[in-house]
Amino acid sequence: MTKLLFVCLGNICRSPSAENIMAHLIAQGQHSAIQCDSAGTSSYHIGSPPDRRMAAAAAEQGITLRGRARQFTRQDFEDFDWILAMDDDNYRDILRLDPDGQYHHKVRKMCDFCRRHPDTEVPDPYYGGADGFRYVIDLLMDACEGFLDFLERQATP
Ligand code: 4NP
Repeated sequence: MTKLLFVCLGNICRSPSAENIMAHLIAQGQHSAIQCDSAGTSSYHIGSPPDRRMAAAAAEQGITLRGRARQFTRQDFEDFDWILAMDDDNYRDILRLDPDGQYHHKVRKMCDFCRRHPDTEVPDPYYGGADGFRYVIDLLMDACEGFLDFLERQATP
């Protein structure tokens, strides 16, 4: 079983979208041995469901956002195989909890796996309009597909 953890700031917009898009792609394909979860680096929204505007943009693409926000903890370094940060701040905040660099090899930026988009970060849509939320879904679809390919290439020597 390969366990993936998607991480953003609040765990109500980008990372729950990544989690549920990946689960959707896994359900469509033959990737049953992959599990997904998400978390936020902040405590701002612990216990909250995904943002309504984010859920609406996901629903336009046939994806239902499930889950409740939780905060990233050091235990997650042990519990997951891959930890995927949405932006540079998230990446830095995650690595700050691993001062010895013991788990550094598990932490990657989501946009490293994009193939159609030039972005290096998944932009924070929270203070913007509906188009920003739609863009996040499109970007994450690209990155999730790319990451699945990466996992498959790793599995086939
Ligand atoms: P997320 O978006 O990190 O993608 O879940 C945000 C959610 C909440 C806030 C910022 C970004 N906030 O400032 O409360």
